[in-house]
Amino acid sequence: GMGVSTITAARILKGQLQNKMGEEHMWLYLSPTTPVSALPETYNTNAQVPDSAGTATAYLCGVKANEGTVGVSAAVTRAQCNTTAGNEVTSILKWAKEAGKSVGIVTTTRVNHATPSAAYAHSANRDWYSDSEMPPEAIQQGCKDLAQQLVENIPDMEVILGGGRKYMFPKNTSDVEYPSEDKHQGTRLDGQNLVDVWRAKKPKDKHTRYVWNRTELLALDPKDVDFLLGLFEPMDMMYELDRDAETDPSLTEMVQVALKILQRNPRGFFLLVEGGSAPGGRRKGTGSKRHLPEIHWLDSTLERLGNQSAWEQGNGRVAADDFRVNVTSLKFTGWTPQSLVLFCLAPMHSDVDKMPFTAILYGNGPGYKVVSGERENVSAVDYAHANYQAQSAVPLRQETHGGEDVAIFAKGPMAHLLHGVREQNYIPHAMAYAACIGQNTGHCRSGAHHSTAGLLPCLSTLAPLLLL
Ligand SMILES: *[C@@H]1O[C@H](CO)[C@@H](O)[C@H](O)[C@H]1NC(C)=O
Ligand SMILES: *[C@@H]1O[C@H](CO)[C@@H](O)[C@H](O)[C@H]1NC(C)=O
Ligand SMILES: *[C@@H]1O[C@H](CO)[C@@H](O)[C@H](O)[C@H]1NC(C)=O
Ligand SMILES: *[C@@H]1O[C@H](CO)[C@@H](O)[C@H](O)[C@H]1NC(C)=O
Ligand SMILES: *[C@@H]1O[C@H](CO)[C@@H](O)[C@H](O)[C@H]1NC(C)=O
Repeated sequence: GMGVSTITAARILKGQLQNKMGEEHMWLYLSPTTPVSALPETYNTNAQVPDSAGTATAYLCGVKANEGTVGVSAAVTRAQCNTTAGNEVTSILKWAKEAGKSVGIVTTTRVNHATPSAAYAHSANRDWYSDSEMPPEAIQQGCKDLAQQLVENIPDMEVILGGGRKYMFPKNTSDVEYPSEDKHQGTRLDGQNLVDVWRAKKPKDKHTRYVWNRTELLALDPKDVDFLLGLFEPMDMMYELDRDAETDPSLTEMVQVALKILQRNPRGFFLLVEGGSAPGGRRKGTGSKRHLPEIHWLDSTLERLGNQSAWEQGNGRVAADDFRVNVTSLKFTGWTPQSLVLFCLAPMHSDVDKMPFTAILYGNGPGYKVVSGERENVSAVDYAHANYQAQSAVPLRQETHGGEDVAIFAKGPMAHLLHGVREQNYIPHAMAYAACIGQNTGHCRSGAHHSTAGLLPCLSTLAPLLLL
């Protein structure tokens, strides 16, 4: 989920892009066909406004944690390697794997970014992307960087798709896509090629594929791939608006390939999908014109997922994460009239400084601008441009997260468990309960979760609920 203002703004924009007024537009997916919703409280154990690492730990591992830490309990202090041992917590992805399901991660951020890494890693610091981002002391104390943990911790993870190439290759190795750009070179000080390490950990009789561009990804025959690693950018992937259609797949395309591989497992699958560009980019301060469409892509992806037969059968679980914290202080205000394009000016002017203002504004961020002692007159600038930074009340180079509750939408067997205002770390427990995985399977058919039966063990008990 994301903050409700963001959901509403993206919904109106999507309607307008379809030549409707906008306000009346219904999400394809986040619609009455997804009837169950809840408001998870996102705060971290040591922070009111949370970060993505502590929140990802909450909704993937079921334990609220300190900001900046992934896959560890609140006993771990950020960046203190020696507080980690003994405080590791496991994720619902791991529980699914242990129950014999296939598992995967699809993200538009780097694959070792905060959200995906909480699914497989245990780290006192979300910023330890490779060993070159770690202090020597942490390495001496035995802590491992996130890229290393990606290839080691759950070596039988079937699908990993996203960005993050540079953290996998030795320092000074030039990037395959941007060979002349130094900033995209490999970063690893230990000299390892982690793609080779990843490959070497797979059974020899399995088909293991590494791809780095869209052409190769779409050329794969998913029936012939058991393990897939796709790294499409040195760091995070591009906004949909800026995407190179030859080298970078869309989120939807990545999910479609992932599902074809994961669905081959008759015992089902767990897939974590993150549309991570919207929060990241918004924080970097590029215009809302780039951000809101990211949410549209997520919606289309979800719709396509909703149409997948595996989902319909209750045989798959997709944690369609997206913007798990209310990543923004975005607001749209100003008594705007019907059909107003949200990037445009509100009809009224300030009755104090007499200047106009845009419908979308931010609490803080790079959009703060004073010109000759006054708030900038936006009617003189191209506020509809994709790079326009909407005005904010407080100047910050990067916008901060917001602290309010976000919205979660649930569909499928036992979706009703996600209802009402909830602690965020309740989410994976509810999902695991519904899927008969993890620690609490007492309600499942006895021993069924260890069977090799084709369907999800609790499907028979769930069928009447589905009919209701
Ligand atoms: C853990 O490491 C920190 C430095 O990062 C040090 O100050 C502290 O004394 C260490 N604690 C233990 C129990 O070794
Ligand atoms: C990487 O290149 C820089 C600049 O050429 C050099 O100083 C450094 O020693 C190189 N590092 C490695 C690990 O090769
Ligand atoms: C994609 O990757 C393959 C394998 O490295 C390469 O042969 C091909 O030229 C690449 N395609 C594009 C469009 O970069
Ligand atoms: C999903 O299914 C609905 C109903 O069958 C259909 O209207 C819609 O076009 C489908 N969407 C996609 C993306 O396949
Ligand atoms: C703002 O700019 C517009 C157009 O450039 C101008 O017509 C208007 O007078 C300006 N408003 C103020 C309060 O300066």
